[in-house]
Parts: sequence; C-alpha cells; structure tokens
Amino acid sequence: MAKARVEYVCQQCGRKAAKALGKCPQCGSWNTMVAEVVSKGRGATPASSVAVSEPRRLTEIEGDVEERLPLHIEELARVLGGGVVPGSVVLIGGDPGIGKSTLLIQMTLAIARVAPVLYVSGEESERQLKARSLRLISEDQLPQDLFLLTETHLEGIIEHIQELSPRLVVIDSIQTMQVADLESGAGSISQVRECATRLQALAKSSGSAIFLVGHVTKEGAIAGPKVLEHIVDTVLYLEGDAFHAYRLLRSVKNRFGATSEVGVFEMTTKGLLEVPNPSEAFLKERVTDAPGSTIAVTMEGTRPLLVEVQGLTSMTTFGNPRRTANGVDFNRLLLTVAVLTRRVGIRLADQDVFINIVGGLRVNEPAVDLAMALAITSSVRDKPIAGDLAVLGEIGLSGEVRTVPQLAARLKEASNLGFSRVIAPQATLPKSDIPEGMDLIGVRSVREAIKMAFNG
Ligand code: TYD
Ligand code: MG
Repeated sequence: MAKARVEYVCQQCGRKAAKALGKCPQCGSWNTMVAEVVSKGRGATPASSVAVSEPRRLTEIEGDVEERLPLHIEELARVLGGGVVPGSVVLIGGDPGIGKSTLLIQMTLAIARVAPVLYVSGEESERQLKARSLRLISEDQLPQDLFLLTETHLEGIIEHIQELSPRLVVIDSIQTMQVADLESGAGSISQVRECATRLQALAKSSGSAIFLVGHVTKEGAIAGPKVLEHIVDTVLYLEGDAFHAYRLLRSVKNRFGATSEVGVFEMTTKGLLEVPNPSEAFLKERVTDAPGSTIAVTMEGTRPLLVEVQGLTSMTTFGNPRRTANGVDFNRLLLTVAVLTRRVGIRLADQDVFINIVGGLRVNEPAVDLAMALAITSSVRDKPIAGDLAVLGEIGLSGEVRTVPQLAARLKEASNLGFSRVIAPQATLPKSDIPEGMDLIGVRSVREAIKMAFNG
C-alpha cells in the first residue's frame, strides 16, 4: 500500500509546507503547522464513497423532516430540533466526566429498539459499557440491535459501519480515534480533524447518523470540539459542574433546528433524568426571607428559566475588595457594582461582593443584571426581597434599566411559578398579554428598581 501524501498547513495564515516546521515561514507563528492528508495512498480506504454526483431537481430528491429517527428523550429532542436526522453528524462536547457517554448510551438504548445502532468506544471496554447499560436499565430490557465496538482505528470502524449499516453510530470519543495515514498520535488536531472529515463523508454517503463525543481539553480550543465545529452539522455542549447534579445541553450550531436551545437534565444514580420543569427545580431550595436572594427570569433559547441570584457582601478584611462571580459574567458583575456605587450611591469600596447562580447554572444574558444589583443591595441593607417578586432588566452605564427581549414568555413563566409581582424595564412593558393577577412594575433606572423592590 503506497503511503498517503501529507502536507503541513499553517493554521494562522494557510501557508503550506512539505515537512513539519516549528515556525511558520510566512507569518512567523510557532507550532501552527498541522499535518493534513492530501491524497490517499493506493489501496487505502477512500475517505468517502461519494459517487460522482450530478445536478438533480430539488423536487426529485427524496427526504423530508418526517424521516427523523424518533428520540424518546424529550430534552435531547428539543435541542436537536426533533429526532435524529439521517446522515447528520452531531458533535457533543463537554468536560471529561460531565456525562456525555451516559447521555449517549441512554440515547442508543432507546433508539436501538427501533433501528440498529453501533456504539464505538475508544475509551471503555465492552464489559464496562455493559455494566454502564445495566445501571440504566435491567438486563431483560436490553435491546437486541445495539452493537458495541471497542476500536480506535478509523479505517476498521468505517468498514464495520459499511457492513452493519446502522441507522445511528456513536463515536466515543473523537480524540481516541486515528487514521493510519497520519503520523501524529490520536488526539492531535490533524487526527481529530481528519477523522471527523472522513466520518462526515461517510454519514452523507451512507445515511447513518453519527454522534461524535468531543472532550473539552485543558488547553481549551486545541484539538477539542472547537476545531470540529465547522465540519459537523450540529454542535451541542453538555455543561454543568461536578458539584451540582444539573446538566444543561445547549446547541450552538444546528443545521436542522434552532440554535441556543437548551435541554435540562439531572445526574442521578440511574443516569441522566430529564427535568421537564427546570424553573421549579432551580427554585426548589430557595429560602424566601433571606437577604441577598432575588429571582431573575432568563431566557435559554426559546425557553424562559427562573433562577435564583444570590448576592453576599462582607467587609473586606485585607487589601483590595474582592468580587467573585459564580455563574454570571465577571465583567457584568463589575459593571453592576460600579453602577451601584456611582449612580445609586451604595458604598461597596470596602466590601467583598459575591454573586452566585444557584444550581451550578451559567447565565450568559445581561437580563440578570438587575437581579444582581438587587441581590447586592439586599445583602448590604440586610433586608430580604419579597418572595413573590421576580426581576429582569439589563443595566446600562448611566444606571438606566434597558430592555430585554421576549418579555411575554418570561412573564408567563414567572406567573406559572407563582410570582405575582415583576419588576421589568419600563420601555418594554406590554400593553396587553399581561398574565392575570400579575402586578407589573415598570422601572427606568436601577435607583427606581431598588425603591420599588424594598418599599413593596
Ligand atoms: P460520563 O458519562 O462517563 O462522562 P463523560 O463521558 O462526559 O466523560 O459520566 C461520568 C460521571 O457520571 C461519573 O462521575 C459518574 C456519573 N454517573 C452517575 O452519577 N450516574 C450514572 O448512572 C452514570 C452512568 C454515571
Ligand atoms: Mg465518556
């Protein structure tokens, strides 16, 4: 078998070279030359078996949304935009140990009831996988059509896929897979990308849907899910932290559905359980008359989510005052503290300030600003905020409360969970569609919001 031709391409500027170079001769960056397979050697397995294609009428092409493989995990289906699309490649990224394998085994156990599924693991033995499955369902419920393969050589895996024609394939993880054409080890950028590219081609030609597991590596983007985002059709991230049971599955790219949707799960001894009503779950442990606790209504994709924002201030004992943000953007906390100091006149220069989103959740939208401001104020004044009050609004540098999108959906969720008073930006207040019995308080500034929250 003739050797495949490999060339090195700079990831910064695109300069090509015949051999591995530490430094790019064109742009001068270090360690950016990455090997890529240019042509396969004779006798090697083709990267794709795509036949020479011809233009075809759109109307003659078969396939519509109905073809999706049904998923029995609602929270996963929501994020994918329905069932699994045949021939699609889905990347599931996340920190090691967050629950990616657990989620995918649960998915394959369900789908294998209706269609053949191949689970390829480069990380665990067959016995380990069986033991995992038995933690999730009982022996007599194991589906017949679930096949396990412990293999890391991609050429072999592709052969098995072609032989078995499964409707769904899971590759766990892409970082353990390698092709023989490249000399670099499994997990390097070249290997990870080459493997994903070949699997993408295979998915398209065979119609099997392929799920790739990608660990988020210590170095961040390097050889992790980020380098694969443009190759695959859909990118999901499973988030959460080791100390909390909640896991959020987010879509950041989806060729077959909306992005920024989230699914919420809870890690239990019997695998990941769906959390159909996350707001309720996140507020479960709330102590209503404790100072420093506020409720914010955030949006995750199209789904409103109520979260508890906790603030704590305490006298700085040594050196500079500290600010700690857990679950919110650190810079938004700094901005909120600055606005409280300068525009409202709350003294925080000698106070450490902590903000925490309960449940290990991460909230990325600025609509939680106002809840942060009220939580901090509540802690400084040592006065609790009423238990039936929810807050939303972005804070601007002049201390103004700015509008937030999708107010109607947020109000509805707040009302469903029994919040009868909501402080919201004056500018977005709806004229109609206010949930029955809700007291909607429009505010223009942080100062005004504080007044309304503590006088009500
Ligand atoms: P895993 O799915 O192996 O993570 P990943 O594939 O993302 O690396 O999940 C590992 C963690 O999940 C491990 O710490 C144990 C825990 N776990 C449970 O709590 N319950 C379960 O039923 C299973 C299967 C795992
Ligand atoms: Mg795993």
